[in-house]
Amino acid sequence: MLDDAEYRAFGTMAAEAPKAKNTFAAGEVNLTNDAFADQLRICSTHDVGYEFVTGNPGESVVAAQELNVGIADAGQAQPQESVAFARARFRRLDDGDLARFNLYSKHRSYNGESTMRSYLACFNAACGAEYPVTEVIYNCPACGGLLEVRYDGARTEAFTLKQIWRERRMSNHPLDQSGVWRYREMFPFLEDERHVMTLREGNTPILDACLASSYACVDRVRFKHQGFNPTGSFKDNGMTAGASQAVRLGMKRVACVSTGNTSASMAAYAAMSGLEPIILIPNGNIAFGKLGQALDYGAKTLQVDANFDQILALVRILAEKLGIYLLNSVNPFRIEGQKSIVIEMMDQLDWNVPDWIVVPGGNLGNISAFGKGARELYEQGIISKLPRFAVIQAAGASPFYEFMKAPHAGGFVSNTHPETLATAIKIGDPISWPKAWQTVGTDGLVESVTEQEIADAKAVIGRCGIGCEPASATTLAGIKKLRAAGKMRADESIIGVLTGNVLKDPDYIYRYHTNQLKNPHGDAIAGNFANPPVVVPNDIDAIRKLLGD
Ligand SMILES: Cc1ncc(COP(=O)(O)O)c(C=O)c1O
Ligand SMILES: [Zn+2]
Repeated sequence: MLDDAEYRAFGTMAAEAPKAKNTFAAGEVNLTNDAFADQLRICSTHDVGYEFVTGNPGESVVAAQELNVGIADAGQAQPQESVAFARARFRRLDDGDLARFNLYSKHRSYNGESTMRSYLACFNAACGAEYPVTEVIYNCPACGGLLEVRYDGARTEAFTLKQIWRERRMSNHPLDQSGVWRYREMFPFLEDERHVMTLREGNTPILDACLASSYACVDRVRFKHQGFNPTGSFKDNGMTAGASQAVRLGMKRVACVSTGNTSASMAAYAAMSGLEPIILIPNGNIAFGKLGQALDYGAKTLQVDANFDQILALVRILAEKLGIYLLNSVNPFRIEGQKSIVIEMMDQLDWNVPDWIVVPGGNLGNISAFGKGARELYEQGIISKLPRFAVIQAAGASPFYEFMKAPHAGGFVSNTHPETLATAIKIGDPISWPKAWQTVGTDGLVESVTEQEIADAKAVIGRCGIGCEPASATTLAGIKKLRAAGKMRADESIIGVLTGNVLKDPDYIYRYHTNQLKNPHGDAIAGNFANPPVVVPNDIDAIRKLLGD
């Protein structure tokens, strides 16, 4: 985001003497103490290591970073090159970019040629309340229902839109290069393109997987791999939209609770947008790859001794009390961005709708976004039929699966002790279940799969040369199960959505391949497709023998 000249100009910031460490009284997590108050002045982020403590003597719940804060001083040489990072975050689209944009695109306005009104609407049809798109709310103030972004006004005609979207693939403009904002006519909630915060997310491939197809006993499974995103998960598609809305609203701080990927994504987008990221994660329950990302992107990271659902309740209160913008998937703008996954998928399939789209289910934001995206494409005549959706949950964290056995309003029972090694979907009280229910409808399916099934399916996806994180592998495990039960036909076209990158959870991979993986109850998971590393002596003959020479 930063050009050479800016890097050079920025080598002029000097560090001030380090500030005293923040200390808080027992039981106090003081988010109002703003060590990040002015990010332009942050010089370095070393000396990680002090802790907040709970009310219980000796128990710490939060590991945090210490920031050494300095003041820009053009007269002094910069001792640490890393300080250039601080400024790099603020490279937003400017008039220069926009001038180039006009050169590269025939379609100059942010939302194509249409002038649309966007507003927030209560998802609860019995309420139907509407609010301005600039109101900072996550649930309907009238009834507590979920919110969604809706649009009124004349839409650009389907054929023209398809043409515009194809042409934009030739463009060098950041908005057009993003696999999300390329489709901006489908979510025209911003008025000014300068608010768009993009890391060129999306643009994820659809990959053939022969071995996975035969494993599931179907003719052809293809995977749309969201792990190719900038932070390695599908969250980036939604986070670019959520972060852009935060910038548009003039927010300073953003927060989320996360099983890992949301925090990694939010931290990255906040950092590049000049927003201060605060993440809350279940202590000891996220994969290290994801935690490492959040730390690296500079998020204030709070590890809380509670599960995802409990922390979500906590962060909602904190967000309201401290005026922090919440970027969990309850934020309807994240859902708008995530619609682009299904839009890009259809574009890549030349608008030929697959019979099935299969997704893992955790908090159920993704399936809700897919449903909204597909319905809107259909309503606008961009696709000619709707796909069927299958949501796959881990057996130990499957409240939606249980609910869909006999769905009725008021019948949703959450799981207070969700358990699965697929930590990304270890969620017992999925907030978006009403939207997911609408999407699955009567012709969709919900399935649950065991830890063994997830582990084996993950190994098979790996053997295809594709790889994914554990939660993503529920898709293949689910397809295999639904096929075996006769609920999917072998000749149907199936797209599984791999939600996260293989590198997110290397610990899980190592344990599986060395036969050390255990399910949450401590029972061994068999390494049915294990590929353990072999220790060999430093002896050429022994190695030749091992290699079958
Ligand atoms: C890799 C991965 N897969 C699936 C999910 C579940 O998505 P959702 O919570 O939108 O259902 C998540 C959520 O964190 C995830 O990180
Ligand atoms: Zn309402």
